[in-house]
Amino acid sequence: MGPVPELEDRARRCADRLRDADEVLLTSHIDADGLTSAAVAASALERAGIPFETVFSKQLDREEVAAIAETGYDTVLFTDFGSGQLDIIAEHERAGDFTPVIADHHQPATVAADGGTGAGGAGGSESGGSGETRRVDTEYHLNPLLEGLDGASELSGAGAAYVLARALEPEGTDSRDLAALAIVGAVGDMQDGDGGLQGANEGIVREGVEAGVVEEATDLALYGRQTRPLPKLLEYASEARIPGISNDEAGAVKFLSGLDLDLKEDGDWRRWVDLTTEERRTLVSSLMQHAVSRGVPASRIEDLIGTSYTLLAEEPGTELRDVSEFSTLLNATARYERADVGLAVCLGDRDDALERARTLLRNHRRNLSEGLQWVKTEGVTREEHVQWFDAGTRIRETIVGIIAGMAIGADGVDPNVPIVAFAEKSEDEVKVSSRGNHRLTRRGLDLSVVMRECSQAVGGDGGGHDVAAGATIPQGTQSEFIERVNALIGDQLDD
Ligand code: C5P
Ligand code: C5P
Ligand code: C5P
Ligand code: ZN
Repeated sequence: MGPVPELEDRARRCADRLRDADEVLLTSHIDADGLTSAAVAASALERAGIPFETVFSKQLDREEVAAIAETGYDTVLFTDFGSGQLDIIAEHERAGDFTPVIADHHQPATVAADGGTGAGGAGGSESGGSGETRRVDTEYHLNPLLEGLDGASELSGAGAAYVLARALEPEGTDSRDLAALAIVGAVGDMQDGDGGLQGANEGIVREGVEAGVVEEATDLALYGRQTRPLPKLLEYASEARIPGISNDEAGAVKFLSGLDLDLKEDGDWRRWVDLTTEERRTLVSSLMQHAVSRGVPASRIEDLIGTSYTLLAEEPGTELRDVSEFSTLLNATARYERADVGLAVCLGDRDDALERARTLLRNHRRNLSEGLQWVKTEGVTREEHVQWFDAGTRIRETIVGIIAGMAIGADGVDPNVPIVAFAEKSEDEVKVSSRGNHRLTRRGLDLSVVMRECSQAVGGDGGGHDVAAGATIPQGTQSEFIERVNALIGDQLDD
């Protein structure tokens, strides 16, 4: 039995079809989850002796699918995308261009009964008054949403690829080592909520632990445990918002210097990973005491502790050892047109590719920090049911979604209202990213429907997950788009 029993049948069918192929074109998305999906799938194909070539795409749209058809491959394996574009892919399948095999976790596209495309949604949701929709499907389709599992929080693209990899495994071999990459993908897609990974993801964690490649632990929940010197770890932990420490370099240093611990080595600050268990305990309890004394509410203090996933085969003190830092390193490559570098790192290159990835990471960090600063300075515009900002060319369109997510919780950004961000994609196109939270999705928010319907209404296209989605729209349609988004979110939160 595989790691996710609900998906066993679909995985077997997809695996059988891949084994029948002479060669496969593997295509995936350019973010941490997309890269790890590709790496898991590539390793599985390699081990099964199936020849393949790997390509990446920023956004699978009509032109991209047509370009894939042009390559002449008979079998195309889509990972971390494909479900949302099933309508387009199915047209090519019917035309005999290729057989698609899809391992994804995005909302599957539906088509209107009258032929046009409609919004995705479990069971085929009704699209804004345009009538009945039905789901298109294809024979080799592995997606948690088709079996009642949540694609936004229970299984990532890399998780779906992992389920497929297990089904592709040749007799007598063990591919549970690939669980490490699947977990990087899930965390890269922010599927680890309070208490760590949930649902189908837990089966993958279990297999990674069994294979000895992953360790799950309760730990300080700050980003940078492996690589950041302690003062930076605390100073940059803006999500914790501890007065006198967060965003306060001198304050963080003063706090650490006041502890009865030897936190420097040869004059340099140690990192979290360098501390003993005892030292960590002391630091955490002092940090909590400090937070309490500064009036930080209990809920935010609890958030300082969380579930960490450590990759045991990786060198301690490197970005690869911690899944969260690993996923940022991957975003730093693929979102800057260097998916090849990230893929090589995932596939084990610890020399050239890792060096290059680290250089790209410095650039990515600078962009994130400058972008976030820009949003904080400019502020967001508040409508009744949504808040938004238009970064134009100030933020790269491939990272505007990450920045929108990081902006939630900043001063002036309401954490209880969905956020929409625009960035220029080209002279005629605008990239849209939207982010919500699980409180809002429980009340009915489905941003994948909002992005798809509202973008299509202004001549674009989009999709994604209920809690995080995106779109591309024509330049100049932002105001009309926001008006529609505001109205549709209002409707969703109403019923
Ligand atoms: O394309 P893909 O599915 O990989 O991207 C998912 C996106 O959704 C990521 O950018 C991730 O950060 C975001 N997300 C989020 N909050 C969640 C789940 C996902 O912002 N709870
Ligand atoms: O880049 P990525 O989406 O993987 O980042 C995940 C989270 O890690 C961000 O939302 C942010 O809170 C944190 N992060 C950070 N410093 C960075 C990069 C990411 O604190 N340089
Ligand atoms: O680009 P961004 O990070 O905002 O994307 C959020 C989610 O929406 C991702 O899962 C992405 O794959 C999806 N998306 C989509 N169609 C688009 C843009 C984004 O399905 N046109
Ligand atoms: Zn994904």
